[in-house]
Amino acid sequence: MLVGVPREIFPGERRVALVPAVVPNLKKAGLEVILEAGAGAEAGYPDAEYTAKGATLAADRTEVFAKADIILQVLSHGSNDRTGKGDLPLLRKGQVLIGFLRPMGDVHTVQDIAAAGATSFSVELMPRTTRAQSMDALSSMGTICGYKAVVLAADTLPRLFPMLTTAAGTITPARVLVMGAGVAGLQAIATARRLGAVVSAYDLRPAVKEQVQSLGGRFVELDIEAKDAQDAGGYAKAQDESFYQRQRDLLGKVVAQQDVVITAAVIPGKKSPVLVTKEMVEAMAPGSVIVDLAAERGGNCELTRMEEKIVEHGVSIIGTINLASAVPYHASQMYAKNLTNFLLNMVKDGQLSLNMDDEIVRSTLVTQGGEIVNPRIREFFSLPALVAQ
Ligand SMILES: NC(=O)c1ccc[n+]([C@@H]2O[C@H](COP(=O)([O-])OP(=O)(O)OC[C@H]3O[C@@H](n4cnc5c(N)ncnc54)[C@H](O)[C@@H]3O)[C@@H](O)[C@H]2O)c1
Repeated sequence: MLVGVPREIFPGERRVALVPAVVPNLKKAGLEVILEAGAGAEAGYPDAEYTAKGATLAADRTEVFAKADIILQVLSHGSNDRTGKGDLPLLRKGQVLIGFLRPMGDVHTVQDIAAAGATSFSVELMPRTTRAQSMDALSSMGTICGYKAVVLAADTLPRLFPMLTTAAGTITPARVLVMGAGVAGLQAIATARRLGAVVSAYDLRPAVKEQVQSLGGRFVELDIEAKDAQDAGGYAKAQDESFYQRQRDLLGKVVAQQDVVITAAVIPGKKSPVLVTKEMVEAMAPGSVIVDLAAERGGNCELTRMEEKIVEHGVSIIGTINLASAVPYHASQMYAKNLTNFLLNMVKDGQLSLNMDDEIVRSTLVTQGGEIVNPRIREFFSLPALVAQ
């Protein structure tokens, strides 16, 4: 079987779905790799490194889609909401597509992929189980985003992060608050600590308190309790507006004391909860920085403008999206490893065999045979359940 890697076409995207190092692993399993020439260049992987590992090059995108049985992408139609549609005519019946599809974004994009006849897998739907951990692209990208958010904040803040005792006096450490201690938030805590900041963190799931503390952060406890804070998959559940209101009242005092606030609170498939209001921003000291990792889903800060860096009341608010693309070398390396592990789990004797008893296959398969076959996605978009044939 031939695995095809087209160049990423989302504007500004620098990642690539496979890196040269994983090509031999795929070949060992009986899979060959065809790469669109230049696909890895922006991430720091020249064509020659792929061919040295046994991949072949295609002159253009059309050739990759025409020859490959399996297409690997970072941002596919759906998550690539700008130029992804252009790939639809290139897909063919039965062709396998694996990538970020944003399956809970817009039902039409998922229907488009179904109509193209592709057997598609969404990496966003990877189950949060121990066995799937090595295939979990959301965690990999979360790790990168959490790190980069702190680096961006440190670069923007007019203060130093670490405490310094110098002949010119003592510098007090920066105070950093991380809101939402999922994978990205935890990496932000670790990175800010390494730079010497005093870090605290808040999450509505009390289960993360120990993780925050183990990274050297202080866990902010509010005098409110979320109802069923966590679902079976470990994700936060949406709360009612009275909860969010009370949360904002209590968080206001904490936010006002910070030099940096990094927000990473996301509810899968929903608009992000507003945790930092306009009033809270006004109460922060001038020069403070907010990095809103939820900018793409409406933002955790009321004033965030997606894809922009703005200054409001003297506070810099960074709403950059697709931060993982800003660290393309390692983001691609981690993503390629995730995809390779995912793919090899489905390959037997050089052929793809979809074992629907495997939770990993069942959870991530979105479209097949012209239909949206994923029950979770059908339910999310209120589509009638498919009748078993
Ligand atoms: N294979 C595995 O076992 C595996 C892999 C990855 C993640 N996980 C777990 O899955 C969970 C979700 O991780 P994620 O990084 O995908 O999270 P996420 O990106 O979906 O959400 C980020 C964080 O925001 C928090 N949040 C949401 N609304 C909030 C609010 N109103 N106030 C404060 N915080 C709020 C969530 O609780 C979560 O911790 C975590 O427990 C993580 O450890 C498990």
